[in-house]
Amino acid sequence: MIDYSVLKGKVAFVSGASGAIGTAISESLASAGVNLVISGSSQDKLLKLKDMLSGDVDVIVGDMSQQSEILRIIDEILLLGKIDILINCAGIFLQNTISNLDISEYNKVMNVNLNAPYLLSAALSKNMVKNKWGRIVNIGSASSYAGFKNTAIYCTSKHGMLGMSLAMHDELKEFGVRVYCISPSSTKGKMGLDTKGQDYSTFLDPKEVAEYVLFAISQDGNAMSQEIFIKRMYYR
Ligand SMILES: NC(=O)c1ccc[n+]([C@@H]2O[C@H](COP(=O)([O-])OP(=O)(O)OC[C@H]3O[C@@H](n4cnc5c(N)ncnc54)[C@H](OP(=O)(O)O)[C@@H]3O)[C@@H](O)[C@H]2O)c1
Repeated sequence: MIDYSVLKGKVAFVSGASGAIGTAISESLASAGVNLVISGSSQDKLLKLKDMLSGDVDVIVGDMSQQSEILRIIDEILLLGKIDILINCAGIFLQNTISNLDISEYNKVMNVNLNAPYLLSAALSKNMVKNKWGRIVNIGSASSYAGFKNTAIYCTSKHGMLGMSLAMHDELKEFGVRVYCISPSSTKGKMGLDTKGQDYSTFLDPKEVAEYVLFAISQDGNAMSQEIFIKRMYYR
């Protein structure tokens, strides 16, 4: 039985909360007694999720593909008060050849997948440092470790996320703030359905990813996994 008591009463901001993995993480956090600020670009989806969650839940709607919107979202979060746990889960999976590079698509993916996590971490870690306790989870991918054809922009963003996590952890650990890059292999859900050339029935369940996240952030002693690569037992 895992002891989640260190998380009880904490406040978490979850980006991409309306997606498959973000929903599973939000549900697990709420079950562990964490109050939530959930975010995504669709208000309808977030309000439906809010109805399913226990505890205090605030909703922030915004499009993270625009830098100005990321900064507005951060202002809104700061108005709500302190955040102890940041889950950077929003992501977009773009498939295109490098010869078809469209700079606006590149900027959109980098804003959602990498720039938003960076700016959110920079802004929200200040309070965590002050409180001498915090958790930042960046949801990476198998694409944080390998390169796959037609996904160069996505792989660029997810490799960046791994490097960012390692560097941030090294900087923030002395203040009691732990930074993780938790990288699932292909996972069931909307994005999983877009993944070509693999057997969907072998994909991870988002709840399995959420279990790893909760286990990692509930550790409060000397043991620390900065990076967790969640592979599948059966890969087809
Ligand atoms: N599924 C996989 O196979 C897989 C594998 C490895 C890693 N991952 C990573 O895991 C994370 C979650 O993936 P998922 O499977 O849960 O995907 P998903 O079901 O497609 O959910 C994506 C989430 O990101 C949000 N989002 C997308 N564009 C946004 C934007 N412009 N502004 C704000 N929010 C935006 C979506 O909100 P709205 O719907 O409201 O726009 C949604 O909540 C991503 O970072 C992904 O890269 C996924």
